[in-house]
Amino acid sequence: MNEFITYNNIEDLDSESKYLIHKAKEATAHSYSPYSKFCVGSAIILEDGTVITGSNQENASYPLCMCAERVALYAVASQFPGKRIIKMAVVAHKKNHKELAPGSSCGACRQVMLEFEQRQHNPIEVIMLGPGEKWVKCSSARSLLPFGFDGKVLH
Ligand code: THU
Repeated sequence: MNEFITYNNIEDLDSESKYLIHKAKEATAHSYSPYSKFCVGSAIILEDGTVITGSNQENASYPLCMCAERVALYAVASQFPGKRIIKMAVVAHKKNHKELAPGSSCGACRQVMLEFEQRQHNPIEVIMLGPGEKWVKCSSARSLLPFGFDGKVLH
């Protein structure tokens, strides 16, 4: 399987991916981003079809800001423990702008995705709007973070 597939047009994505992008867009409405004014939304689909969303949550103490991806992932872990994640979509736009901005998941979120993937022994597909207005579908978190930190070294 290809690690990354790019699409020039959202219409070329499969219907589940398009639906997740739509839910991620909706989730940006709940972004609390008065500092960066960059609204991020994420949507995750579980093995049973449940969709969980998240949005970035900022704080005046800047390092406490939390990315949309981790808000959604931790919601899954705490509300749907043991349910496998199939796919997640992430979108972003500037405050008061309708059109989506390219927004690639940060390294911290990739590290967290990686551990979720390892815990469930199954890859998580990730969809993002990459540079040049191209949608990118990644086959796994591992493909997004080669050589990520592996907690096994702690044992
Ligand atoms: N942000 C996310 O929500 N996800 C990412 O992967 C990158 C950045 C948020 C954090 C902060 O609220 C804003 O975008 C600007 O960095």
